[in-house]
Amino acid sequence: MAAVRPTTYTDEVVYTDEVAEFSPAVVEEMRSHLAKYPPERSRSALIPLLFVVQRERGWIDNPGVNYLANFLNLEVTDIWETATFYSMFNLHKVGRHHIQICKTLSCKIMGEPEITEHVCSKLGIHPGETTEDGKFTVSLVECLGSCGTAPMMQIGFDYYEDLTKEKVDKVLDGLD
Ligand code: FES
Repeated sequence: MAAVRPTTYTDEVVYTDEVAEFSPAVVEEMRSHLAKYPPERSRSALIPLLFVVQRERGWIDNPGVNYLANFLNLEVTDIWETATFYSMFNLHKVGRHHIQICKTLSCKIMGEPEITEHVCSKLGIHPGETTEDGKFTVSLVECLGSCGTAPMMQIGFDYYEDLTKEKVDKVLDGLD
């Protein structure tokens, strides 16, 4: 698989006044998240709302951030400061399967470097890149809270633990 575009946390953020549009069903879903909090605490709905934006738009883009700022009556900087704090929010486009390999201590000791090397050479990309066909993105992330089953990676919302090269092959080969 050919190498692709580099993706850092900032290289694809295009600042614009454009505001994203969402279907009535998605807006209703957003309202249902908002309804869980008292009006003076509406900001607390930001994380579930960011997940909705990410699911709908594929990443946290500027129009999506503008929408949330309007929706929550916050400044765009309020949205960005939360979105940029958590690695679970993608600030650049990612492939259909976002492979997040934990690089923190337990995983590092238990073989993360070899796993990362294997994943990257198999896909022909480096950490932070997406395959040319848009299928895979590889990211190195901090502890995902599964240290007892290190080394591990997360793809989408699923955890893959006690990784070996053979297990990685089986997982990646099984993804559409
Ligand atoms: S160190 Fe890898 S999951 Fe905690």
